[in-house]
Amino acid sequence: MTKGWNKSDWRAKPRVQMPDYPDAANLAAVEAQLAKYPPLVFAGEARKLKKQLALAAEGKAFLLQGGDCAESFSEFSADNIRDTFRVMLQMAVVLTYGAKVPVIKVGRMAGQFAKPRSAPTEVIDGVEYPSYRGDIINGFDANMEARLPDPQRMLQAYTQAAASLNLLRAFSTGGFADIHRVHSWTLGFAEHDKAERYREISNRISDALDFMNAAGVNSENAPTLSSVDFYTSHESLLLEYEEALARVDSITGQVVAGSGHMIWIGDRTRQPDGAHVEFARGVLNPIGLKCGPTTTADDLKVLMAKLNPENEAGRLTLIARFGAGKVGDNLPRLIKAVQEEGAKVVWSCDPMHGNTIKAASGYKTRPFDSVLREVREFFQIHKAEGTVPGGVHFEMTGKDVTECTGGLRAVTDENLSDRYHTACDPRLNASQSLELAFLVSEELSAQRNAAQRVAL
Ligand code: PEP
Ligand code: CO
Repeated sequence: MTKGWNKSDWRAKPRVQMPDYPDAANLAAVEAQLAKYPPLVFAGEARKLKKQLALAAEGKAFLLQGGDCAESFSEFSADNIRDTFRVMLQMAVVLTYGAKVPVIKVGRMAGQFAKPRSAPTEVIDGVEYPSYRGDIINGFDANMEARLPDPQRMLQAYTQAAASLNLLRAFSTGGFADIHRVHSWTLGFAEHDKAERYREISNRISDALDFMNAAGVNSENAPTLSSVDFYTSHESLLLEYEEALARVDSITGQVVAGSGHMIWIGDRTRQPDGAHVEFARGVLNPIGLKCGPTTTADDLKVLMAKLNPENEAGRLTLIARFGAGKVGDNLPRLIKAVQEEGAKVVWSCDPMHGNTIKAASGYKTRPFDSVLREVREFFQIHKAEGTVPGGVHFEMTGKDVTECTGGLRAVTDENLSDRYHTACDPRLNASQSLELAFLVSEELSAQRNAAQRVAL
């Protein structure tokens, strides 16, 4: 147990980005109900993920975290879960090839329902409404009643998260994740006539699999080829929900956030003395911390001390989200702060949240080129500083949506209205996600080759 910490201590701290529920009795009833339900994940799984992330901190594994900006009740379906899971597996195969280390797969799934917003209200067709805060809090429709925070939504979110996780667990071990199968889907992508540069990587992966097969290593005798570890994560924003699902681990006596394997603290809720940091600091799960342009070195030092006082490797992942063109101004000063503290962290790159713009059509979008540029800058800085780029964090979907512009099968500003389905921020579609994985894989290969040259 974190000394002197209690899972409800956050209630005494200043909170931001959380709803004021109008009906306190209704809220209390939902919290009591959730507290009786089984947790969605177990402490042993969170510890296993933490061990794997400890390897990523040293460059011996690589983190791939991705999924919806916001999961929604209306888009909930087996097909959507399968498609996002599938593209993450494809990306993981491509990244494994480049990094030559295991890729840790963590979905923004089965719990990513609550959203921080830039303003408490928004104007739609001339009318001012409370902002939509994610399906776990209020409804997306532009009417006053839908926008009222309703605690009952937490129960629906829990049920959806449980069903999603159940399917993800089945996909992970039931044959769907077999590497031969996953690679055959990726081959299809590399055959696209503009995907020439990716064909070589794909062919090399095929050769490696053929060789292993010939040497007698196949899905039947090597279970690691036919199943994967897949973890869930979300922003720990709605603390009533988080507290209700927090449970004492019978082995260590520590508290685990039972809502997902990994939780993170957003860029808007990382106040060192605020409620969100207070909750996260006491649970045993791996914790992500978004770091943006306004994160100061001093704040980061305080946050690292609070969130990881024992300096446990794998406990803390710093998710850099500065925006293309701004990484050089910000990442080195935060890397320096980490080094001054001798802190063990995983550095991950979120090239989405610093690159959101409004298209001429009025849609929120992210240019694929900016996303890619931020990833490249992230790798360049780590190379220059001699530190480890440990992972990537994307908003993406397995569906063929038109939310981010650019990519091989170029989505233009004019296309955005065709299939713009996100409940919140624009996501990479399946093709853009895979293309990005190939490009990150190239960065990882280049970095490995450079490191080997130095070693020789
Ligand atoms: C998010 O990850 O959806 C998000 C809101 O990110 P950030 O806190 O970095 O803005
Ligand atoms: Co987002």
